[in-house]
Amino acid sequence: MQRRKFIRLVGGGTIAAAVTTTASLSGCATTGAYPDAAIEAWKGPGNETDPRRRAVAYAITAPNPHNLQPWLVDLRQPDVIVLKTDPQRVLPETDPFGRQILIGHGAFLELLVMALAKEGLAAKVTLWPEGELPLDLNAWDGRPIARIALGKPASEAAPDALFAQILKRHTPKSDYDATRAVSAVTLQTLLESSNVNGITLGGTVDDAKLPAMRELCWQSAQVELLNPRTSLESLQLTRIGPAEILKHRDGISLNTGFVRFANAVGMVDRNAPLAQGTTAYKTAFGRFEGHSRTAMGFVWLTSAGNSRSQQIDAGRAYVRLQLKASELGVGVHPMSQALQEFSDMKPYYDKIHQLILGKNAPSTAADATVQMFCRLGYTASPPPATPRRALERFIQA
Ligand SMILES: Cc1cc2nc3c(=O)[nH]c(=O)nc-3n(C[C@H](O)[C@H](O)[C@H](O)COP(=O)(O)O)c2cc1C
Repeated sequence: MQRRKFIRLVGGGTIAAAVTTTASLSGCATTGAYPDAAIEAWKGPGNETDPRRRAVAYAITAPNPHNLQPWLVDLRQPDVIVLKTDPQRVLPETDPFGRQILIGHGAFLELLVMALAKEGLAAKVTLWPEGELPLDLNAWDGRPIARIALGKPASEAAPDALFAQILKRHTPKSDYDATRAVSAVTLQTLLESSNVNGITLGGTVDDAKLPAMRELCWQSAQVELLNPRTSLESLQLTRIGPAEILKHRDGISLNTGFVRFANAVGMVDRNAPLAQGTTAYKTAFGRFEGHSRTAMGFVWLTSAGNSRSQQIDAGRAYVRLQLKASELGVGVHPMSQALQEFSDMKPYYDKIHQLILGKNAPSTAADATVQMFCRLGYTASPPPATPRRALERFIQA
C-alpha cells in the first residue's frame, strides 16, 4: 500500500514522496553518512606543500549560506592571495542583496588568516581594493573582495587557540535536547569568543525571553516555506544520494536510504514549490517548529551599520563564535529566516530588529543591523561534516 509522506529538508523545504506505509520517516530530517570524497576537506590540507594552498584548504570549510561555497582565490601573484566571489553562487530569492553570501566570505577570510598564521605567515588584509560589490546581484563581477598580502610576522605571534577547532566545527541542523539547558557561563564564554571590531555579540538563555524568539523563528520560517520562489530556491539546491552529492559537493545534501528510495522511484519533485495547507507544508512547518521549540538559547551578531565591510566582519566574528562553540561542545545553528530581505519577510525583518536592537530594520548602509541570529543547544549526537568541493575548484593559479 502506498501513501504520501514527506521528506523534510535540511536547510528548509520539503519533498513530497509516496512511500510504503512500512517505511519509517525517522532520520529523514537529518543526513546519512556522505561519500568520503565529498567530505575529504575535513581531513585538512594533507600533503599540500604551498602554504597558501594549505591555508585555503582550511578556509573552504567555512560556514556559508546553503553551502554554496562561493569563494574563489587567485594565487597568480607571489605572496598574495586575492579573494573573489563567484557571481553565480548567490541566493537571489532569500538573500537578494548578497549580505549573507558576504558573511560567508568573512568566515572564509577569518579561517584563511588563522591558517596562514599557523603557516608562519602574517596576512595584511585590504578589503575591496577595487571598490565594493554593489547591492544589485546582477551587477556582481570579478572585482576582489580582499587582497591579502603575505609576509613574515614582525614578532612571534601567540597561536590562535581556535585554530584547533577548524576541522571539528560543524553546524548542527537538527532538534536540540530540550531537557538540557545552556548555562549562563557557557553563553558568556561564547559571547567573549570574538574580538572583531565593530561587531557586537549578544545572547540570552533566559527562560522568560526565549518564547518570543522561538515564536519569531517559527513564524518567519512559515513565510519562507509559503513563498514559492524562496521554497523552490532551497529545493533546487538539494542534492540527493551519493551520485548527486559527489557530482555537486555543495548545497543541501541528503543521503538517507529513505530519501534515496523516494528519489529513485521518481517521487521527489524539486521543481514544484510547496503548497499551503498540504501535509507537506505542515510537515515542514513541524520541522521548523521543532528547531524553534528546542532552542535552549539564542545568540546574535549586530553591527552599527550594514556596509559591505561590516558584513564581512560579521562573518569573521560568526566563525569565531562557532569555533568557540565547537570547543565547548555546544551547538550554534543559524535561524536566518527573519533576516532574509525579500518583501514578504519585511514584517519579521522589522520585528527582529525591534526585538534585538529596539530599532527599525536598516534601510541604508549606515543603519544598525542584526547580521546573524542563531539558536543554542545540545544535539543528541555530534553533527556530521557537510560536503565541500575539491580544493582545486576554488583556486585560480
Ligand atoms: C550567513 C549564514 C546564514 C545561514 N543560515 C542558515 C539557516 O537559516 N539555516 C540553516 O540550517 N543553516 C544556516 N547556515 C549554516 C549553513 O547551512 C552551513 O554553514 C552550511 O550548510 C555548511 O555546513 P557547515 O557549517 O556544517 O560546514 C547559515 C550560514 C551562514 C554563514
